Amino acid sequence: MLKPGTKARFAVLVSGSGTNLQAFLDRASAGTLAADVAVVASDRPDAYGLVRASNAGIPAHVVDYGIYRSIGMNDPALKDLQVDLEALDRTQKILKNPDPEKRLLQLARLVLAERELSSVLDRYRPDFICLAGFMRLLSPFFLSRYNRENNWRVLNIHPSLLPAFPGQYGYEDTFAYGGKWGGITVHFADEGEDTGPIIAQAVYPIWPEDDLETIRRRGLGLEYEVYSQCVNWFVAGQVATHSGESGRTRALITDPCYGDILRRWMALAFQQQ
Ligand code: GRF
Repeated sequence: MLKPGTKARFAVLVSGSGTNLQAFLDRASAGTLAADVAVVASDRPDAYGLVRASNAGIPAHVVDYGIYRSIGMNDPALKDLQVDLEALDRTQKILKNPDPEKRLLQLARLVLAERELSSVLDRYRPDFICLAGFMRLLSPFFLSRYNRENNWRVLNIHPSLLPAFPGQYGYEDTFAYGGKWGGITVHFADEGEDTGPIIAQAVYPIWPEDDLETIRRRGLGLEYEVYSQCVNWFVAGQVATHSGESGRTRALITDPCYGDILRRWMALAFQQQ
């Protein structure tokens, strides 16, 4: 899948501060990441991740999803869309509006933004895409351009031990629930919300004196390690996917050092302040 003899290149999508992006950039310049960041894109012009990319000399682009919000069903932009929205609506799992007309309009706006996004990314021919704090749901229009059967190419990091606490507020929800362990998950993105095949997870303890900021810091420290390791496994072809009997795709790490790495993450979780 990845071209032999060439260093893998990937795109990073961000919406905010981009500390996961920074962790990739730092490891890439230290020579411990097996792939180069080819391009960074954000749905928000004010995302600090864009500044981090520019500081590292990486092309940074904005695809402003906000501008598509004003598009109505009769907008000329929709006439040229050439996408069967109803067929797309049957496979999408993220838009829940019960009014089909409103849902199709939402989907149409999303497709327009995603079409712009993929045309930006495709200029850099990324081998895969990492979502790193990208606060937009991806429709099957976008995902089907990159994912193939058993060849998933869009990775995401989520700040909870999925399937617990999907959605935007992983740390907040873990803390509010009174969990005694928090977790983070790297998974392939599918058409649901944080539902794709899990690649790796790590956990950290939550102590009685902790507050939300402490656990976020502890979790983020793990995120940087785990996400970079997942990129390395992915590039090395050490993430195998196959469909289980339930029909659900499972991802398995084939690295013989897997156990040692899990033990290292556990030790790191206890060291984090
Ligand atoms: C991280 O907690 C990540 O898990 C979640 O969004 C946050 C992004 O943080 N998806 P940053 O922008 O990488 O600092």
